[in-house]
Amino acid sequence: MNKDHIILGIETSCDETAVAIVKNGRETLVNVVSSQIESHKRFGGVVPEIASRQHTDQITVVLEEAFQHSNITWEKIDAIAVTEGPGLIGALLVGINAAKALAFAKNKPLIGVHHIAGHIYANQLETEFEFPLLALIVSGGHTELVLMREHGAYELIGETLDDAAGEAYDKIARSLDLPYPGGPHMDRLAQEGKDILDFPRAWLEKDSFDFSFSGLKSAVINYIHNKQQRKEEITKEDIAASFQASVVDVLTEKTYLAAMQNKVKQVIVAGGVAANKGLRSKINEKFIDTTIPVYIPPIQLCTDNAAMIAAAASIKYRQGKFASWDLNGKASMELT
Ligand code: KG4
Ligand code: ZN
Repeated sequence: MNKDHIILGIETSCDETAVAIVKNGRETLVNVVSSQIESHKRFGGVVPEIASRQHTDQITVVLEEAFQHSNITWEKIDAIAVTEGPGLIGALLVGINAAKALAFAKNKPLIGVHHIAGHIYANQLETEFEFPLLALIVSGGHTELVLMREHGAYELIGETLDDAAGEAYDKIARSLDLPYPGGPHMDRLAQEGKDILDFPRAWLEKDSFDFSFSGLKSAVINYIHNKQQRKEEITKEDIAASFQASVVDVLTEKTYLAAMQNKVKQVIVAGGVAANKGLRSKINEKFIDTTIPVYIPPIQLCTDNAAMIAAAASIKYRQGKFASWDLNGKASMELT
């Protein structure tokens, strides 16, 4: 299984319909993403029903585009990989059914991929992994520290006890009347504001690598409501900067301690919140005097895409871990 291989990846777990073709888990031949953000914006978040319907509309269009933009023919495809979970069940099923139909019709093996393994492997498209490595995964649904001692083996050493980092970003953004998804808007405002509001940082127990953002979220929302009740002005930039400083401090500090304690050779950051400018600069700065390199994918590989799914599937392809026809969508799914 060590020969060159080309994998077609499909991702439909949330609000992006994506198809990519990746060679040997490292080289992106094409990566097409159709975002539904515009359709969900007016509801202030992803509406599962709308997401499923849009995936159904888009999946064949995106597939055709992927083949048109690459010179790859079906004969060259060695396997079809698809996000199995976690995610919105109706959304996942669109990708899974498309993958199964194609695998059956074209007589190709099928590979099921965990969405978070995909986010981690987005980094393999840029950097060769060296083990042990520590991955900080920060997205709309996840905040996790994962230790990897070899390819495809994930040890969960910390996770959020309540909200995910991206979820906290989106909720605070909503209470500031910013459009969905709020993370990028908060990030932009944070660059213009000052960290002067002294919001809490949830360090939890000593040596714990778990996270909690619900206390911070309540503190920020209470601050906004109090100001509004007293008809006092709020400075969105300072709220964004203070909130971001709190999130970024905790993420960076815990990642640093976990990296040192586990003597890792690399730190990688993955998921939508890895696009955050504040986090990118703080985490790079924290490790600057160490021998541990920090890798963060370019922004288009941080948010949901199918190249990361095909990259993660490459490991399973090499190991011969194929899915059977009863592959099913899983709304929640353990990584480990
Ligand atoms: O990984 P992703 O595309 O989807 C999930 O699997 O959840 O992550 C989306 C999340 C959203 O919560 C979005 O607000 C957040 O990533 N996000 C950001 C930034 N860009 C996206 N959060 C903070 N700063 C950003 N620049
Ligand atoms: Zn994601």
